[in-house]
Amino acid sequence: YQDAPDWTEILTYFRGSELQNYFTKILEDDLKAIIKPQYVDQIPKAVKGSVQQLLDKKDELKNQDYVCSILDLHGVKNRNVEDLSGGELQRFAIAMVCIQKADIFMFDEPSSYLDVKQRLKAAQAIRGLIASNKYIIVVEHDLSVLDYLSDFICCLYGMPGAYGVVTMPFSVREGINIFLDGFVPTENLRFRETSLTFKVSETATEEEIKRLCRYEYPRMHKALGEFSIQVEPGEFTDSEIIVMLGENGTGKTTFIRMLAGRLEPDDGIKVPQLNVSYKPQKISPKSQGTVRQLLHDKIRDAYIHPQFITDVIKPMQVEQLYDQEVLNLSGGELQRVALTLCLGKPADVYLIDEPSAYLDSEQRLHAAKVIKRFILHAKKTAFVVEHDFIMATYLADRVVVFEGTPSVKAVANVPQNLLIGMNKFLQSLDITFRRDPNNFRPRINKLNSVKDSEQKKSGNYFFLED
Ligand SMILES: Nc1ncnc2c1ncn2[C@@H]1O[C@H](COP(=O)(O)OP(=O)(O)OP(=O)(O)O)[C@@H](O)[C@H]1O
Ligand SMILES: [Mg+2]
Repeated sequence: YQDAPDWTEILTYFRGSELQNYFTKILEDDLKAIIKPQYVDQIPKAVKGSVQQLLDKKDELKNQDYVCSILDLHGVKNRNVEDLSGGELQRFAIAMVCIQKADIFMFDEPSSYLDVKQRLKAAQAIRGLIASNKYIIVVEHDLSVLDYLSDFICCLYGMPGAYGVVTMPFSVREGINIFLDGFVPTENLRFRETSLTFKVSETATEEEIKRLCRYEYPRMHKALGEFSIQVEPGEFTDSEIIVMLGENGTGKTTFIRMLAGRLEPDDGIKVPQLNVSYKPQKISPKSQGTVRQLLHDKIRDAYIHPQFITDVIKPMQVEQLYDQEVLNLSGGELQRVALTLCLGKPADVYLIDEPSAYLDSEQRLHAAKVIKRFILHAKKTAFVVEHDFIMATYLADRVVVFEGTPSVKAVANVPQNLLIGMNKFLQSLDITFRRDPNNFRPRINKLNSVKDSEQKKSGNYFFLED
């Protein structure tokens, strides 16, 4: 940019503010910054070894024990990084940052893959870094943890793929409202035409659904290193979405991979041959060409089909990505492409592991609607692993609740009713949710607050539409 300001102009502009000091230090090369990368999926490719070995290499603050306790990493210290579940990998990545000496700590989407409880713990670990002369910056899409995580919020808006603008810091409450409203009062500027609301209810009328196919899966066991899971037998039909609810490391991905035929259950038990399409949790692209080429190679029929374009390609905003190289896509862009590929493949059962990871709050709402509509219209079944509370409750017809000791031993229960299953899951986490009365944003109640105690007493750990 020829108009880009030089450093003297920048320093003059910010004279007298906190940023003047900050930029001066940056210029003098006085500040060390470390970043927890957004895209943790690539960590196992970049570093090899066990969690313990890798932590030891960066053990600068000698607070490893404390950090590992908060982030529940003690149990997986001897595991290879490439064997970690998504949530364990995220916590490892956060821990690597928390044990190093630095002045600026940046966390790019620390909540991806974490279960609700671990999101709160991650917030605690990150806030534990607060000290004078330290800067802590977090990029986050999960609005339900922001109250726990932040002191100030900057909103970013603009044209995806073209430009972005960062607002001044606001208080948490103001920041969230500005983001949801799509309006910055201090600038008198509207950046979105509609405000975001989380009241997404779109369920098919019961008579619309004629369920024809029945499938079942047997009781299954699987041991992986020190971890083992037992899956209770279950059945499902077409036109149905089953959401997997469980803490990190309770075997959700393991179960899905068995259904996908990618992993054999122990004891010679056979999974019935299902015609599946599978979106893995961790996506690491190898494709050398553009998005267009990838879609052409993988889902030739679907991506030119008008119905698919209307139902999936348009709302997932994939067309904008057609000419981009797959290897250059951002985490969220890659997720949108991966979901499109999954739904574009003809199958009876769609296995979708964490579709919300790396998507922003608006895209999550789009993705949820796309999946729901697609499954109902095409009369298919989906199993979806999802930690985002809004998406999970919107998608689920029924839920499979995973119980047990994370990373050690778990049971996947038979599919059950959403309300009963969700209450059971949240009860096991000791967490209650309420809805913000204005924008319906789900908010985690502070432990032992009036609402928390009331809801626990009445057994309502969460709300359905009221
Ligand atoms: N090859 C392996 N060797 C040893 N342990 C493994 C292996 N693969 C997975 N595990 C362990 O099995 C447990 C279950 O993993 P899985 O990926 O199924 O969990 P998950 O419920 O999907 O978790 P998340 O919510 O974090 O994605 C984890 O504790 C993981 O560390
Ligand atoms: Mg998983």
